[in-house]
Amino acid sequence: MSKKRIGILTSGGDCPGLNAVIRGAVKTSWQLGYDCVGFLKGYEGLHDPVRYLSLTPKNTTGILNQGGTILGSTNKGRFAATVGVSDRVELDPELLKGVKTTIEQLGIEGLVCIGGDGSLAVAQQFHEQDIPVVGVPKTIDNDLSATAFTFGFDSAVECATNALDRLHTTAASHERIMVLEVMGRHAGWIALHAGISGGGDVILIPEIPWTYEDVCHKILDRQSKGKQFTLVVVAEGAKLPEGGLVSEVRSNAQDKLGGIGQIVGREIERRLHRETRTCVLGHLQRGGAPTTFDRVLATQYGAHAVRLIVEQRFGEMVCYQPPEIESVPIIEAVNHLRQVDPDGSAVQAARALGVSFGDRPADESPFGIRVESPEVATAEDVELDAEFTLDLAEAAAEEALS
Ligand code: F6P
Repeated sequence: MSKKRIGILTSGGDCPGLNAVIRGAVKTSWQLGYDCVGFLKGYEGLHDPVRYLSLTPKNTTGILNQGGTILGSTNKGRFAATVGVSDRVELDPELLKGVKTTIEQLGIEGLVCIGGDGSLAVAQQFHEQDIPVVGVPKTIDNDLSATAFTFGFDSAVECATNALDRLHTTAASHERIMVLEVMGRHAGWIALHAGISGGGDVILIPEIPWTYEDVCHKILDRQSKGKQFTLVVVAEGAKLPEGGLVSEVRSNAQDKLGGIGQIVGREIERRLHRETRTCVLGHLQRGGAPTTFDRVLATQYGAHAVRLIVEQRFGEMVCYQPPEIESVPIIEAVNHLRQVDPDGSAVQAARALGVSFGDRPADESPFGIRVESPEVATAEDVELDAEFTLDLAEAAAEEALS
């Protein structure tokens, strides 16, 4: 009798850690007596033409630390179940029929779908059609609800942090304002975390409305304290003060965000007459090796996804609810976007350090705690102080002579 089989696919935009999930799932499957097949190019490999390769511990050796995905991926393609954040699009019934046939003919007991919100929305529709699926949350944006972290996010933050470290030294040397645009779609997680870990001075995110006045106020405040350079981190999905996103509209696909960095940089330069440069990090954030955190998370996700299949808990997605890996219905993860809490502890801590979110003047008190300003010294105080210092000096001189 042939062995039982598990299918795996990676869908949507790639990110560091996909291979670590594949390896984790394959090794676990084999330990449990399952064979594995990997479908190529995301959901596309499931039907017309069916394209897959056999996955073994041997041919997945050495991929733990590799970026990208050995299975390839497709963003949208024929399997698009959403357009925007949650606008559901029904999958073509013929496609669904084809997928069912493939799953049956190959004897797949369960399919591990590794993807972000759009890809998991496809998995949800598969589940509704009794195709046995489980989900693994992937995206550098970290915007899936029901999980504290998606794998790929930490690697993207590390990339943005490295960029800020580098911008820091050149900004300081040239006394310039540097604007760094990072990814994240409609969530400010990458900008917030990289901004904190890379010592950004201004962080602009979609969740906090901001103004050019307050951004410039912060830059001038730093200037008045002798700091002639400023690092501004802006999320691609931050809204402009006058309203609206900077994006390219695409038909039948999500809008392509990007370009706000240049606009912010130009406006700061126009208002302050200070040299301002913009750097767009782009897909560097999605490439390369996963961080250790992402390797650990992705490996656990791979192993637990297989466990869900063995336990026949189809329609569920593995998730990280620290300190444990848990699972939730996929529908819970795709139904709404997880954004930064503007009053959350990370934002509060950043503000306490003096970071500006461009929404209030630079000299606000940390945690809203009123700080008593030191009393202003009167002329009389100054005179008394001078007398006291003189007395001390005279006493010291006398002691030295005696
Ligand atoms: O969702 C991940 C992400 O990298 C976003 O941060 C970014 O807006 C988008 O994908 C870019 O997509 P594409 O690779 O299609 O340009």
